[in-house]
Amino acid sequence: MGIAWTVITCPVYGKLQNELVHLIENKPEPWRSHALGCLQTEKFTSLRTMLILGLDDEAHVRASAWLSVPDMILLRDFKAWTYLYHVYVQPEFRLQGLGEKTIQQVIAETEKYDVTGILLSAGDEKVRQSFYGHLGFVDVPPDPWLMTKHKERSLHGKSRKYAQSSTILRQVSLHDLATAQSICAHRHWICTPKESSEVGPQECEEDFCGLFTDDKASSFFVRIPYQNGIVLSWVVNSVHGWIQRLLCPDIKNNDLVEKIASKIGDITEKVTAMTHDQLRVLNLKPLLEF
Ligand SMILES: CC(C)(COP(=O)(O)OP(=O)(O)OC[C@H]1O[C@@H](n2cnc3c(N)ncnc32)[C@H](O)[C@@H]1OP(=O)(O)O)[C@@H](O)C(=O)NCCC(=O)NCCS
Repeated sequence: MGIAWTVITCPVYGKLQNELVHLIENKPEPWRSHALGCLQTEKFTSLRTMLILGLDDEAHVRASAWLSVPDMILLRDFKAWTYLYHVYVQPEFRLQGLGEKTIQQVIAETEKYDVTGILLSAGDEKVRQSFYGHLGFVDVPPDPWLMTKHKERSLHGKSRKYAQSSTILRQVSLHDLATAQSICAHRHWICTPKESSEVGPQECEEDFCGLFTDDKASSFFVRIPYQNGIVLSWVVNSVHGWIQRLLCPDIKNNDLVEKIASKIGDITEKVTAMTHDQLRVLNLKPLLEF
């Protein structure tokens, strides 16, 4: 049986979409709703979510993997990774090398981007060691699930020389999994209005996918120049208030981190309540200056 490989950016139309919906129907929430959302609900194709498909001679899906590409504008100045998820080989075609070929396609696709490498999350110890370990993925301590494979030639820092001055606040979409996970793969701060703590790399796929099952949650990325560095935050606002994953490698002072997080949290709550017309004339810069 010959396998032809194709890369499709989401959403996918036609017969293939039905087949893919069928494939993810057995997956538990919240991942299922995220994947279905990527396939069906966004109106425009996104270059940031792609499906890598191994098709047989009759164009049926035999192997598939999802790859999320990070937003390089938000993550400039920081390491960024593509994020690999939902790797799946049809049961009757397993242990014939198709899984490995799927990952080779993922590696080739990742080579096209100016990222540090690939991240993934896997809980099954056998799959971690014998499948991903065999393909060169290594653990990301202290997280028990994250694994990474660095690109052979990382371009990071060579081709990414941008001006640092822009302030960005934008809503998070289904296609931002790699951006959220790239933030959480750094040493970062987790902040709420009541407390903050610094943590090591953490898997956040479940939190991210869960966002899209909660109608009352809104989520933003905020990037602010701060002195000679950058503060980058992934904010989630829900009925419980805000929670942020904050990247600010140049700031070591706990009180200052809390002050910045509090300001970012307040702004995103205000923005959530604004009308379209108010948003259109919103000048962010003075609101986010410290
Ligand atoms: C994991 C999965 C993608 C592997 O696909 P596959 O086509 O069977 O893998 P390959 O045939 O390319 O195997 C490559 C190597 O990994 C090993 N391997 C594959 N699946 C394994 C498993 N479940 N446990 C232990 N080792 C495994 C193979 O023995 C082979 O090693 P070898 O070259 O030393 O013989 C497939 O089993 C699958 O779809 N599983 C269900 C979904 C899943 O668990 N996805 C991963 C989520 S993170």
